[in-house]
Amino acid sequence: MAKTAIITGGSRGIGAAMTKKLGEMGYNVVINYRSASSKAGTEQIAADLQKTYGVKTLVVKADVSKYEDCETLVNETVKAFGPNIDVLINNAGITNNCNWIDITREAYENVINTNLMSFLHMTHLVLPHMINHSDKKNQCCIVNTSSVGGLTGVINQADYCASKSGIIGLTRALALEFASRGVRVNAIAPGMIMTDMLRGVNQDELNALAATIPEGFIGDVSDIAGAMEYILKAPYVTGQVISPNGGFVLQ
Ligand SMILES: NC(=O)c1ccc[n+]([C@@H]2O[C@H](COP(=O)([O-])OP(=O)(O)OC[C@H]3O[C@@H](n4cnc5c(N)ncnc54)[C@H](OP(=O)(O)O)[C@@H]3O)[C@@H](O)[C@H]2O)c1
Repeated sequence: MAKTAIITGGSRGIGAAMTKKLGEMGYNVVINYRSASSKAGTEQIAADLQKTYGVKTLVVKADVSKYEDCETLVNETVKAFGPNIDVLINNAGITNNCNWIDITREAYENVINTNLMSFLHMTHLVLPHMINHSDKKNQCCIVNTSSVGGLTGVINQADYCASKSGIIGLTRALALEFASRGVRVNAIAPGMIMTDMLRGVNQDELNALAATIPEGFIGDVSDIAGAMEYILKAPYVTGQVISPNGGFVLQ
């Protein structure tokens, strides 16, 4: 029987690549997005997965920074695919790029609510639907998208780095708490990856960024989808932070 996966922020960039990989791996996929402008694109991804891999899909609009929207996302999943959830990919995220004097309280609260609180909400709501059927042979899996910003500091990104470090703490604590109940919890901490988050940056700045990376180039979304696939297929890996980053940060 096909397993069920939920992904937050599955409409674009890294999340869209992970969504496609989940379909390729045979999961029925619940794809979350938030912006009206992403509706058509997300529905297209869902239709392509159904056609290409024969999996079932469900598209759910929800602002995962809000607990009630996370409840809706999980309730819609259970209604469509039943009470057993096998995989949760927490991926939705935003950034501010603002110094800590000029930033507003509203702006940094939005980053923390989107990048960190949503991960707390979603794990809190989904874990009961994992431990109800998981065991050593039938493991469930949570993958949290952190960032190299959570491993080091980044200037003008204090709120972002706080959220991404928080995700690593959450990952490790939940991995320990649920290891004996058949749920693995890991994080991916991407380095610089070409998505809408970087597309606003001009070519000179991109070249300068690439020059700071030992491998000399900016990563692709497939690098992160590949790391997710590895984690989902690795039954002895839990509580880890895997960082595809071209050598930018060494752990
Ligand atoms: N790109 C990088 O270099 C990089 C590096 C390290 C870590 N990351 C992390 O990777 C993750 C994905 O980033 P990306 O580069 O793929 O960004 P992106 O292209 O800007 O996509 C962001 C995704 O998050 C969704 N999202 C944002 N706020 C949301 C909310 N409140 N509720 C539901 N969905 C929401 C967006 O949905 P809509 O389409 O509906 O807006 C979109 O699917 C983020 O957690 C980011 O911090 C990225």
